[in-house]
Amino acid sequence: MKKTIEEHAARFSHIAAEYDDSQDSDEYRACVSLVVHYADPSPEDVVLDLGTGTGAIALALAPDAKRVVGRDISEGMLEQARTKAAEVGIENVEFDEGRFRDPNVGDDEQIDIVVTNFAMHHLSDEEKREAIGVIADLEPRRFVLGDVMFFGTPDPDEPFYSPEVDDPATVGFLADALTDAGFVLTAVESVHEQVGVLVAERAPTADE
Ligand SMILES: C[S@@+](CC[C@H](N)C(=O)[O-])C[C@H]1O[C@@H](n2cnc3c(N)ncnc32)[C@H](O)[C@@H]1O
Repeated sequence: MKKTIEEHAARFSHIAAEYDDSQDSDEYRACVSLVVHYADPSPEDVVLDLGTGTGAIALALAPDAKRVVGRDISEGMLEQARTKAAEVGIENVEFDEGRFRDPNVGDDEQIDIVVTNFAMHHLSDEEKREAIGVIADLEPRRFVLGDVMFFGTPDPDEPFYSPEVDDPATVGFLADALTDAGFVLTAVESVHEQVGVLVAERAPTADE
């Protein structure tokens, strides 16, 4: 992580009011729609959206899910998400503080699907691996990861990210971390050579 959690939180709270208008790239929009498409919750599913920001994914999934739990480190971004939920009358979503490596989910809460979009690249690779382990321990049946990720060697003259604050991983690293944590990779979508969506399903255990 190139910035501390507090620095990332402050940075996002500072831009929270303008965040939605600033997300105008085709790649971001494609990633949002792929994450929503692959998450595909049923009315019985509880979904956890990590790094939920202003709730783009959480609010899109809420009408199809039983409940959506949005977690983020930036109170400013969470406040935007809560305001948007109230404006459209979505009541089965809850936005609160939580982080990848400590999602602030109750011990007795069954999480069926975990999603994250454009957020995990703020963590170092070691922290991403730890976060994927924490997500696996929640025992979701599916994890959909949309983010900046490298399908090849990124062109240093055209980074899709901000090298001073972001720390994207290669697709190979993420695939290994997911399989090491007990997931099976069921889809890999390349949106751009530096942006993609990985879909991971929990491998059934011997007694399932
Ligand atoms: C680029 S925004 C993406 C927001 C949203 N998922 C979307 O698709 O629009 C990244 C978000 O990740 C959050 N974030 C950064 N590091 C985090 C961490 N360690 N745990 C949880 N959220 C984090 C930031 O506060 C920010 O709201």
